[in-house]
Amino acid sequence: MDRKEFLRTGCIACIGMAFGAAMLQSCATTSYVKGARMPDGMQVPLSAFDGKEGKRPYVVMKHDDLLFPVCIYHIENDRYSAVLMSCTHQGAELQVSGDRLTCPAHGSSFDKWGNATEAPATLPLRSFPVTVQGDQLFIDMRKQS
Ligand code: FES
Repeated sequence: MDRKEFLRTGCIACIGMAFGAAMLQSCATTSYVKGARMPDGMQVPLSAFDGKEGKRPYVVMKHDDLLFPVCIYHIENDRYSAVLMSCTHQGAELQVSGDRLTCPAHGSSFDKWGNATEAPATLPLRSFPVTVQGDQLFIDMRKQS
C-alpha cells in the first residue's frame, strides 16, 4: 500500500467511525414510549423519563393513532413541552437530537418549544399542553399550546 492509498483508506475509515459514533450517540439517547389513548389526548408514565443516568431530557411518544410521533421534553420540575415531529415546511418526520429537532428532507431545525430556528421552515411545530396527573403525563391533543 503506497502513501496516497494509505491516507485515502485512513480518511474513509475515520469518516466512517465518526459517522457511526454520531449515529450510536443519537440512538443511545432517544427513548421511545407508547402513549395510552385517552378521550382528549394521550398519557405516558412519568417513569418513561427515568434513565440509567438520571432523568432523561426527552422521550419520543408513538401510537398507532398518531400520524407522527410526539417529542416530549422535560423542561424543569413539572414543566414539559410536547411537539409533533412533523416538519412545517413539507411535512417530513423530524429527528431529535438533544434540544433540537431537525428535518432530514431540507435541513430545517426547531427548538424544544417547536420554534423554527433554521429555514426553510418558518412556522412553529404543532405543540400541546402537558400536565402532570399523579404518576402520568397527560398530553392534551384537543388544542395547541
Ligand atoms: S420538509 Fe422539512 S425542511 Fe422541508
